[in-house]
Parts: sequence; structure tokens; C-alpha cells
Amino acid sequence: FAKIPRVAPEFQSRVPPYAKLLQNLERVHRITGNQPLTLAEKILYAHLTNPEESLAPSTPLADIRGRDYLKLSPDRVAMQDASAQMAMLQFMTTGLPDTSVPTSIHCDHLIVGKNGEAADLPRSRAANSEVFDFLESCARKYGISFWGPGSGIIHQIVLENYSAPGLMMLGTDSHTPNAGGLGAIAIGVGGADAVDAMTATPWELKAPKIKGVKLTGRLSGWAAPKDIITTIAGKLTVRGGTGYILEYFGPGVDSLSCTGMATICNMGAEVGATTSLFPYLDAHRRYLHATNRAQIAEAADVALNEYNFLASDKDAQYDDVLEIDLSSLEPTVNGPFTPDLATKVSDYAKTSLKENWPQNISVGLIGSCTNSSYQDMSRVVDLVNQAAKAGLKPKIPFFVTPGSEQIRATLERDGIIKTFTDNGAIVLGNACGPCIGQWDRTDVPKDTKETNSIFTSFNRNFRARNDGNRNTMNFLTSPEIVTAMIYSGDAQFNPMTDSLTKPDGSAFTFQPPKGDELPQRGFEHGRNVFYPENDPKAQPDVQVKVSPDSDRLQLLEPFNAWNGKELKTTVLLKVKGKCTTDHISAAGVWLKYKGHLENISYNTLIGAQNYETDEVNKAYDLDGKAYDIPGLMMKWKDEHRPWVVLAEDNYGEGSAREHAALSPRYLGGEIILVKSFARIHETNLKKQGMLPLTFANPADFDRISSGDVIETVNLVDMVAKDGNNGGELDVKVTKRNGDSFIIKAKHTMSKDQINFFKAGSAINYIGQERRN
Ligand code: F3S
Repeated sequence: FAKIPRVAPEFQSRVPPYAKLLQNLERVHRITGNQPLTLAEKILYAHLTNPEESLAPSTPLADIRGRDYLKLSPDRVAMQDASAQMAMLQFMTTGLPDTSVPTSIHCDHLIVGKNGEAADLPRSRAANSEVFDFLESCARKYGISFWGPGSGIIHQIVLENYSAPGLMMLGTDSHTPNAGGLGAIAIGVGGADAVDAMTATPWELKAPKIKGVKLTGRLSGWAAPKDIITTIAGKLTVRGGTGYILEYFGPGVDSLSCTGMATICNMGAEVGATTSLFPYLDAHRRYLHATNRAQIAEAADVALNEYNFLASDKDAQYDDVLEIDLSSLEPTVNGPFTPDLATKVSDYAKTSLKENWPQNISVGLIGSCTNSSYQDMSRVVDLVNQAAKAGLKPKIPFFVTPGSEQIRATLERDGIIKTFTDNGAIVLGNACGPCIGQWDRTDVPKDTKETNSIFTSFNRNFRARNDGNRNTMNFLTSPEIVTAMIYSGDAQFNPMTDSLTKPDGSAFTFQPPKGDELPQRGFEHGRNVFYPENDPKAQPDVQVKVSPDSDRLQLLEPFNAWNGKELKTTVLLKVKGKCTTDHISAAGVWLKYKGHLENISYNTLIGAQNYETDEVNKAYDLDGKAYDIPGLMMKWKDEHRPWVVLAEDNYGEGSAREHAALSPRYLGGEIILVKSFARIHETNLKKQGMLPLTFANPADFDRISSGDVIETVNLVDMVAKDGNNGGELDVKVTKRNGDSFIIKAKHTMSKDQINFFKAGSAINYIGQERRN
């Protein structure tokens, strides 16, 4: 692969290692016999840590999708400020001096939007200074790029700086797939997974199925890239992409901008997709040149044209194909409360009456990581200019969130920010703000029971997400539709066809918006203070800042290694029915403590229902005294009484929330014994050194009561055999009257996971391995 050009040193960490990836792919072809591959498969297989270990000779590759696990070596990690705290605390316990792959931290989620950057940023900086200082000191110590508060939103910064065709990246945020708009495989994960990548530990992913999305025709008029994904969300629903990568192809892809593709990939998270991506296109070349990365475009050109990387093979097979005709696409409004409830703009007036949605729209919000590109904003400002020329002003509050300092500065230079503010908009800081509930909203009372509706160009609209008010209905749509609607504030207004009344009494109708894909004068760098040093070196002498008195941050003590003996535990609780990660580790007000394991552990299983009493968050000590569940866990931890929790089916469904495994482990849990697990949570428990077991005979659940003692019988033998990707264990149950019996339990520990258990956690094991 000698034709792959060398890039200048300052780009080396930003260009995927094409020659190495192509060599890996060659090994894959040798093993599997040159089977045609989708683009997603090419990029994933090129990142296999060891193709010979992962792929059996001549296996039909379509068969391993949804079945086999791939061990992968990602190129890069990006973390946002809320999730980076626990990720860095875990990384610190490995004792490693620096990260193995380029890593960045982005301070975006903790900044509250209200009046605009000048007033809001200092306030949020002060309120979160200890978290920001902690993350900055971690970044300096371990050689991580630190994008401080005000620099922008993780996904926009990644697109502008780090994403590249063929890259594989993990990000501790569910909208990490945004980077697929520039041809990367980018996957949202929890902190412990990010630590895998940061420590060059192979990261496991079940080989995803591949859904082809064929785009035909061209977008025109009001239709925007956002409408492609809101339409797809309507078709696939919030679960339709689960277990899939969405791979876009077809003639329609050529008419899209790179940033438009990023919007589409960003919201692939709303249909549950593992990630989404586009092949390498002219739009990507243009965007890479515009963002001063011409050398990456040149390397990608060679990888595509000389070696057939960065595009799918002609005969590649998708598991299924969804086709969307862009020429007939109509703008769509999705919501309320779920991103897959899609209503065409032309039907919104009628549907809103039928569904009893509020007829007055309260607020319009545009921007965020999803829709703050130059193309979005230049099309939006065209509408604002049309309205201003007609003498119209917004009828309702209008907020704009730029996604990065680069885009904000470019909009400012080109007069777009001034046009916004001259026309009544509030331009917030470069941060998540209202998209993640960091919105100090003043136009409706915080505790109102009245419903109200807001139109946003964001990506997610779960209840209470934006302003903490469960009665706020968030309708997701394109920034163009949000902007046109603020001039009416009326759900009955269809901006594509209806007219508004000018001050002189005549009628005004919007013309379809026009804008520029990229700024004609290039991007403006903006204020230097918001940029980190390129490729910072680790500074081992830096002291990581964590105050011992802090209630938000707490250094992690490594969990104890297994003592080599059988486990003897007492049943603390039998959980009844559905028990999701929200029941195990509640969010909301607890988010503040994401960096403080002890404090956040006070939320452990507070949503769980006691099987024996039907009470929520109630457990009973051996003397019959009642405690809240975390209270009893702490008591038993202090008494050195290891415990086990029993539960029913699909325990731990929901998110990949790692605190749902960390907290039980921290509070002295050793075994979770259930009828069945949700897979990601089971993996998380193994990563934290717990022993997750399932009943071989689910009816045994009924034979066990709280206070009974549960002991493993042949764990020592099982561990000596190094797992075997699962097996059975004998478990002895001793009732409180002294009667005892043996039941069978199953485990699914792989060889690696047995090592996690022996070391006390995956992080302990990784640290040991790297230090040796
Ligand atoms: Fe931030 Fe909302 Fe995007 S929380 S990362 S702007 S989805």
C-alpha cells in the first residue's frame, strides 16, 4: 500500500492509518476468500485486533452478523464532560501514564443556556469549576485534547477536526455516530468501553447486521437532510435500527452536503442503530478542504481509488434495504415525546387539532450538535431576511445554539449572527444547553401543569428532556421549519403554503430557503482560547485535581481482586418484575454525582420493587428491620456481609449505564442471580468484577428467600478452566432454618471475562496487563 501518501506530522493523529487498515483487510480477504463487503464491514474488519482469531476460514461473512463477537481496535476516543468523569476515574486506576489512542474531552453538557454566552458561560463555569478543573488536569496528565467550556459540542468539534473516512472511533455519548457523516464508524459507548480503547484493550462488539438505505432523487425546496432522518425514524420506529448499522448508498447521496450527512447519522441513534455512515464522496473532499484537512482528503482519495477502500463492493449484501426518494420528500415534524412519531408539515395543522396538541407554539430553538452547520444557518438566515424585508418580527422567543466556536465565528463574520440578534434571537453559548435540559427557561412557570409546545431542530424529545417539564411537547423538525414557524407561533400555519400578514396589511409568503453548503470565504478560526494544543503530550507530573471534600468527584479505589475462594453471599433482595438500568441507577438529579461513586450509589435500585412485600425501595435486614435498599447495602458492606440480589427476566434492560454495575459492586454485591439478563448490563457487571448468574431452572427463583445464604460450589474449578465462553455452576442455598439444597446456575464468562473477575474488574486486569 505504498501509494498511500504520508501526511505532515500535525495530521498524523487525525488521519486513519490507511496502510495498516488495508493490510488488515487483506488478511480478512485471505481468511474468508475475497467475499464482497459492505463499507461498514470493510471498516470494521480493517479494525479487527487479530483477524485470524476473530474469523474462521471461509465463513460466509453474512452469517456472522448478529451472531459473533468482533474484537476491535478503535483509532480514537471522544468524551463529553458528563460521562468523561467516570471514564477518567476508571482510566486513572489502571496506573497507565497516557492513552494509547488519541483522545479528546469536550465540556458541553454542563453549560446552562438562558441569556446568551456572555452571561451564561461564566455562571456555568463557576458552578462546575471543580468538574472542569478535574477534567482539564486529567487531560494534561494523560495527553488528552481538552476542549473547554464554550469551545463547542462534542460531535460538531469531532466533525470539524477528527472524523475522517474509514476512521473507527468510540465516543461516550449516544450521538457519536454523527461522525459517520464524514465516512467514519463512530459508536456511542459507556466509560469502561472508552477505557478499553484508551488502553489498547480489544473492544468487543457483536457483529452488527447491515441495513442499506438507498437514497434516490434530490432534495429541493424546503426539504432538508433532517427530513430524511425524521422520515426514516417514522418508518423504522425507535427500535427498528437495533443491532444494525445503517449504511447509506444510491444516487441520492451525491446531492447531500457532508454536514447534512452528519445530521442524518447523528439521528440514527433515535432508531437504535449501532451507528450510521456514508461512503467517501465529493462532499467529503470539499468539507475536508474547507476545514484545512486537504492532506486527509488526498490520503482518502488514494485509499478509495487505488485500493477500493471507503466504498462498498459492487455485490455487497445488505440484510435489508430501505429506499427513500429525496425528490418527493416533504418536511416532517416528529413528536411529541418520541422521535419516531412523524407528521408531514402539510398534515401538522389537522393532526395537531385531532391530537389536542397546543395550538400556540411557545418557543423555537435551532442549532445543537444536530443542526448548526453553515448550510443550516445560511438557509435559516435567508428566511429571517425574507421576513425582515416584509417587516415581520418573530412572534415567540427564538434561540440559536452554535455547535462550535468555528461555526459561531464564521456566522459572526458573515453577518448571520447579527441578523439573528437584530431580529430578536438569543444566541446561546457553543454548548448543549436546552438540548440536554440545561435550559433556564423563563417563558413558562417551571412547575406548570399546562401543556406547551416547542419546535426544535434537536434530535431527541423524551419527556422533560429540554426544560425539566413533563408537560412540554418538543416537536423535532428542520431548522428551516422551526424558523418559519416562529413568525406565526400558530400550529395551523403551514410555512410552505400559507401566508402571513405584513404590517401594511398585504400578504407575505416565504419562498423556499436558499443557502450555501460551505462558507464562500472559508471557515473562521474564532477565539484561540477555545482551542487545545494539537496532540498534547502527557505530563506525568501534573496532579489530578480532586478535593477530598468534594461531593461531585471521588477518586476510585480499585475493587479487590478475587481471593481465590468460593463466594458466600446473603440474599439482600428479590426484585419483582421489570428492572431496567433506570431502576438500578436512577438519572435525573443523580446525574450531578456521576463522578462520585459513593454519592451516586445512594440511588442503587431505589426504583426496584421488593418481590416479597411489593414495596418499592425497601429491603429487610436479618433482624426484620426495614431499610431503603442502598441503606441496607451500605450496612452490609460495613459489616463485611457480601450480598446477592435475585431478579426476574431481562434484568438491566435500557441503557449502557455503567453506574448500574459500578454501584452494586461498590456497595459489596458479589453475585446477581436472575432469570435472564439484558446483554449489555450483563457485560457491564462482568467488567466490574461481579458474578452474573442465571437460573438453569427459573422456577428455583421461588425456592429462595431474602436472608438465605447462597454459596458457589465449583467456582474455583470453573475459574481454573478459564471459562470456555460460559457453562454451569452448582450453587448451594441454605435457608434460614438451616435446610440446604443445590441448584444449577449458568454463566457466560469468556476467557477474558474470567480474567476480569479474578483481577477484581476489567480495569484492574487491563492495568496489570499493561504494566507487565
Ligand atoms: Fe449535546 Fe444534545 Fe447533542 S446533549 S451532544 S447537543 S444531542
